[in-house]
Amino acid sequence: MIDTESDRVKVNVLSTEGVTAHVVALTLEPTANTPLPAWQPGAHIDLELPSGLVRQYSLCGSPHDEKTYTVAVLREPNGRGGSAEVHDTLTPGTQLTIRGPRNHFPLVESNRYLFIAGGIGVTPMLPMIETAERNRADWTLIYGGRTLTSMAYLDRLLEFGPDRVTPVAEDVSGRPDLGALLSQIGTDTQIYCCGPSGLLDAVEAECSSRGLAGQLHIERFAAPANTVTGPVDGDLPFEVHLQQSGVTVQVGADQTILDALEDTDVEAPFSCEEGFCGACEVRVLGGVPDHRDSVSPAADHDAAKTMIICVGRSKSPRLVLDL
Ligand code: FES
Repeated sequence: MIDTESDRVKVNVLSTEGVTAHVVALTLEPTANTPLPAWQPGAHIDLELPSGLVRQYSLCGSPHDEKTYTVAVLREPNGRGGSAEVHDTLTPGTQLTIRGPRNHFPLVESNRYLFIAGGIGVTPMLPMIETAERNRADWTLIYGGRTLTSMAYLDRLLEFGPDRVTPVAEDVSGRPDLGALLSQIGTDTQIYCCGPSGLLDAVEAECSSRGLAGQLHIERFAAPANTVTGPVDGDLPFEVHLQQSGVTVQVGADQTILDALEDTDVEAPFSCEEGFCGACEVRVLGGVPDHRDSVSPAADHDAAKTMIICVGRSKSPRLVLDL
């Protein structure tokens, strides 16, 4: 959760595998002869790429495998370069640093699950399904994608049978009918959804209108539509004291905390800078944060005493952070 040397692990790329034409799976092994940190379904790691870019990818191998991690990466032609770097430059033997795992999308215990995946959003569902199977829970997966051939791990998932897995290829049958799907969901079903913003926004809206919001768990790859990710008119300046470093910085009305830290020697991890990936989560030791992220509900941050410093601000004149 927090960027310390202790949550950094050096790994080698053990193998790369083309899962589809645009998705590559990386298997990572630690450079030292030690087990990798344990993780639970829904967890992701930060991958520090050789260029310095940091990207988050869901762990999609088995949580019972202590020797390797697997992530699957979709090439984003209009992305900011991280996925292209993974596809074009990482080869077996490349050494990388990872951080984490962290989990903002934990699988709660239930006898029944509905998994809704869009595109590469299927990756966190794979270990969730493994766990649901192991626990003999009832589960179904609705898996949407542009075409059947673009859908990573589809063959493996179809082996569970048509009563478990329903692929919805957009070029054949359009998008999943969320209204029909969610109309059959009872109060005993936990709903997990991961995929593009449009899918998540639509599932959120359907669940809210049907009284299912409390059963819905989502993970975002992008900020929700119409989200303001920077300071807004009326924001006030405040002071941030970094406890570990002993440094105090002033955050201007038109700056984020992350912006203000750029003028210091203090290293703070970040990636999306839009408040959805969780890479910049920091423990709050004092003051009252103003949560503005979409990583998790504000109450969860309050309970965990953390905040997301790429978008979060302060309701008090001073914050004390564990950096
Ligand atoms: S950098 Fe992604 S949430 Fe802050």
